[in-house]
Amino acid sequence: MTASESLGVIYRFIPAPETDSPPTLLLLHGTGGDETDLLDLGRQLAPAAALLSPRGKVSENGMPRYFRRLAEGVFDLEDLQARTHELADFVETATQRYRLDSERIFAVGFSNGANIAASMLLLRPQVLAGAVLFRAMVPLVPGTMPHLHGRPVFLAAGRLDPIVSPEETERLRRLLVQTGANVTLHWENAGHGLTPADIEAARTWLQGWATARGDRARSQESKRWT
Ligand code: MLT
Repeated sequence: MTASESLGVIYRFIPAPETDSPPTLLLLHGTGGDETDLLDLGRQLAPAAALLSPRGKVSENGMPRYFRRLAEGVFDLEDLQARTHELADFVETATQRYRLDSERIFAVGFSNGANIAASMLLLRPQVLAGAVLFRAMVPLVPGTMPHLHGRPVFLAAGRLDPIVSPEETERLRRLLVQTGANVTLHWENAGHGLTPADIEAARTWLQGWATARGDRARSQESKRWT
């Protein structure tokens, strides 16, 4: 495991157990989390993947976040855009440093981390092959819609979430569908916190995506993840 700093970002990188073009999970924590928070989750979701886990650079009363907000659910859009590009630059730098397969970088974000992952899909779509977004909101509506051309996105939402309403989840789903992304929306009878059922649903979805890829031998792609 490497704990390091690049472009001013504190992060962990855990190489994949095998080296034949493994996928990478970009793990993005929630408000108040850090670079260690989602490592176990990443291993559960894709045991054979490399894990890249940066800590959010913004501090809100000592709690790390990926971008500033003005109030709960009200984002500082200028900061969000700048931080989205900064994070995308970090991913590109790490891709070169660790020789990652740039076509297999999946974001896995929770809450604030899911919001910046969604923002990356919208503003720097070339950086991510897809995303798993737990409890995400619409981060921003871009001036120009990107073309996500069937990029796989898994949204996991809680029907009882006091922070992200079902309407907000629907709004995000519609926005992503508009970009051409291949969106799967999964509902849990849960609040904002992650449940084991969320994790199992995301794991099954990721595996299904890996085995369904038509451009490579099925078993080969599946092995890269599991
Ligand atoms: C955010 O600020 O990104 C969302 O409100 C989620 C949160 O971090 O509470």
